Amino acid sequence: MPAPQMIAEPLTRIRPSEIDWEPLGTHGITRKRLGYDEETGYVTALVNIPVGWHGGGVAHYHHAFEEVFMLSGSVTVGGTHYWRAGDYFFRPAHIVHGHDERAEEGATALIRSDGPLALLLVHDPAEPDEYPLPSYDDGRGHLYSLKVEDVEWRSDAAFPAEWRIRPLSADERTGARTVMVEIPAGWTTWGSVRLAAWEACVLEGNLKGEKAEFEVGDYSAGPAGTEVFGALSSENGCRFILWLFAPEPVA
Ligand SMILES: [Fe+2]
Repeated sequence: MPAPQMIAEPLTRIRPSEIDWEPLGTHGITRKRLGYDEETGYVTALVNIPVGWHGGGVAHYHHAFEEVFMLSGSVTVGGTHYWRAGDYFFRPAHIVHGHDERAEEGATALIRSDGPLALLLVHDPAEPDEYPLPSYDDGRGHLYSLKVEDVEWRSDAAFPAEWRIRPLSADERTGARTVMVEIPAGWTTWGSVRLAAWEACVLEGNLKGEKAEFEVGDYSAGPAGTEVFGALSSENGCRFILWLFAPEPVA
């Protein structure tokens, strides 16, 4: 199955400040859709959770995964666990959650899912915190919370030699994975290609690509056979989050 095409023109720049906020649900959350695939329902968005937000308070699950990287603020679950800026989690489909979610100080996050997040309510949850239903089946597993800063940087043969990555999650069946990438200041290359379609969002620094220059907050996507952002160089260095779809043969 070919990977979703998240933006109309691959390798171009999607800049959040050029997109309007739209309401998401009925509890005050708003979002800017960065990438979206009509056919599969894959969506990656910048999401804003207002100060004092309190979720519906009803346990539920979805038919799609939710993959989250926290940019600022915090979200609490069950009054005890905090997701703060720099935290990552991967919540597969069919994980019961949402019993008690709050954001006292508000939050912003990059949230990605592979389909509509319709609410399937569980009125009598079996456990007080997130737990998988028997129907749960995901090659990445349920990653409840990961402090990205604690993951060691490493080199990876799938990337240019000077790049370093922090692995965040990986689907052992399909090879899809999510990583943090760091490009050192002054890096330039003749170009390389990816075996998988990708999406990425700049977190720090900047970089120059084939079709645009990218700064903090900028998002892009491209098919297998292109380099992430069409990256050619980075003057000041760059950190970005990279979502890789399952590898596919390049024509
Ligand atoms: Fe949910």
